[in-house]
Amino acid sequence: MSQRVLVTGAAGGIGQTVVASFRAQGALVAATDRDTQGIEAEVHIPGDLRDPAFCDALPAQAAQALGGLDVLINNAGVITRGPITETSDEDYDLTMGVNVEAPFRLCRAAIPIMAKAGGGAIVNTSSCWGLRPGPNHPLYVMSKAAVASLTQCLGRDHAHQGIRVNAVCPNEVDTPMLRSGFVARGFDPDQAIADLNASVPIGHIASPQEITDVILFLASDAARYMCGALVEVNGGKPVI
Ligand SMILES: NC(=O)c1ccc[n+]([C@@H]2O[C@H](COP(=O)([O-])OP(=O)(O)OC[C@H]3O[C@@H](n4cnc5c(N)ncnc54)[C@H](O)[C@@H]3O)[C@@H](O)[C@H]2O)c1
Repeated sequence: MSQRVLVTGAAGGIGQTVVASFRAQGALVAATDRDTQGIEAEVHIPGDLRDPAFCDALPAQAAQALGGLDVLINNAGVITRGPITETSDEDYDLTMGVNVEAPFRLCRAAIPIMAKAGGGAIVNTSSCWGLRPGPNHPLYVMSKAAVASLTQCLGRDHAHQGIRVNAVCPNEVDTPMLRSGFVARGFDPDQAIADLNASVPIGHIASPQEITDVILFLASDAARYMCGALVEVNGGKPVI
């Protein structure tokens, strides 16, 4: 039977590739983002992940529309840059709301649906920086560390129900999230990415597809013994 998949951040750099790749292998996809226009998917559920009621209802909404829910991909995220002394209350609320509270709510709502059906898979998106901090992004780093910890906890707590919870931890990926940061700091994004490519042992920063392929693997039966794993996908580039 086709996998029935809910993808958050479906309009983003990685999210678009995740949606297209699941569909290419025959999955039925419910795509959610603030704006889902233009995304090819079986079901569109636009909304704001900072709205608790939206998150709480989303897995059941997707399950109803798709005829069940086998996979949840918690991919949406925001990045807040700068040292703690330049970080506002609004930055805190936004980052913790989208990166931590939303996956918390979505996992909490999806797990009973999956348990009732005999199992499922959740793939969260942490970051290499959630495992070892990079400089000057304390809020983003702590949010991704929370996602990593949530993944390990849920991977352990729900394995007995046939629910596997794992996380992908990318280093730099060529998406609007990365490029917008260069633009905000006054750099030419193409030049900045060329410079970054030179810093990666495998020769280039990740494409969205290179992260997506690992997400698909973690959601697949090939990863059936993986529970609570934090999978670094970094082209050989450690966080220094
Ligand atoms: N790009 C990188 O270098 C990189 C590295 C490590 C981890 N990640 C993580 O990968 C994931 C995907 O990032 P990306 O690079 O594709 O970023 P992106 O900015 O291209 O996409 C993120 C998506 O999340 C959505 N989103 C944000 N806030 C939302 C909200 N309140 N409600 C609904 N949707 C919301 C955005 O609309 C956007 O479509 C994120 O969790 C990010 O932290 C990215």
